[in-house]
Amino acid sequence: MTAPDAAGRLRPRRSCLAVPGSNPRFLEKAQGLPADQVFLDLEDACAPLAKEDARHTIVKALNEGDWTGKTRVVRVNDWTTHWTYRDVITVVEGAGPNLDCIMLPKVQDAQQIVALDLLLTQIEKTMGFEIGRIGIEAQIENAKGLVNVDEIAGASPRLETIVFGPADFMASINMKSLVVGEQPPGYPADAYHYILMRILMAARMHDLQAIDGPYLQIRNVDGFREVAGRAAALGYDGKWVLHPGQVEAANEVFSPSQEDYDHAELILDAYDYCTSVEGGMKGSAMLGDEMIDEASRKMALVVAGKGRAAGM
Ligand code: GLV
Ligand code: MG
Repeated sequence: MTAPDAAGRLRPRRSCLAVPGSNPRFLEKAQGLPADQVFLDLEDACAPLAKEDARHTIVKALNEGDWTGKTRVVRVNDWTTHWTYRDVITVVEGAGPNLDCIMLPKVQDAQQIVALDLLLTQIEKTMGFEIGRIGIEAQIENAKGLVNVDEIAGASPRLETIVFGPADFMASINMKSLVVGEQPPGYPADAYHYILMRILMAARMHDLQAIDGPYLQIRNVDGFREVAGRAAALGYDGKWVLHPGQVEAANEVFSPSQEDYDHAELILDAYDYCTSVEGGMKGSAMLGDEMIDEASRKMALVVAGKGRAAGM
């Protein structure tokens, strides 16, 4: 994997594939899937009795597998458990150079991020690894995390993404639904709008990416597309995927359509051309019937940037 982007460690994360760390067969299979990111899970996808072995299975998979083109992440257990420090030490000491980020679930305040940052720095110093190269992904999964999300997002230069965890979040606030990612029955509007926007604002305030969590109806790809499409429309950078069928859908939903991409490039060209003539004194231009100005140029840059990152 290349070094993180200087302006905010912006790696592609349209599809973030969850892989149980205790399952060597899934770890092998994940390497062949076209996901932008994989995260090898030591938390909820690993049974308590399987966690200790899974740390070593993950180290082996990171060191010996072929993860070319993918951001490599390990999700450790949250700080309220007794597993977290050993998860981090075993995985980072064992596979640090082959690991891009640690994902911390159920983050509740900035101190939890600071603690992980300090532990990573100690391991990097001890092992002679580059200091600060390993990033952090913070999952927001309860009311306390959401209320503190601004300070969480600003707690460490290692932070790369803020991730919404809908399953734990719905449970923690007593939302009356059993289908993760779907709207709770009986509520006529979008029950996730506030939460998603709140996370997005905190992430953008600190130039971080915002990632939507899982959709558990893994055979319902149309449902996945619809839910992912809502997050993408708001500006989210990607979504978790749990199944090969969701990978392609996420890559597509979080990339602009060819038509939008072409239009964005046209706006950028037209704006550059028009503002370069007349001695650079023109602040706006016409593209067909559409007036474009500096703000439209910025909007076009977002779409063009996503398209270029997707290789369009
Ligand atoms: C993910 O961790 C979730 O709780 O949705
Ligand atoms: Mg969770």
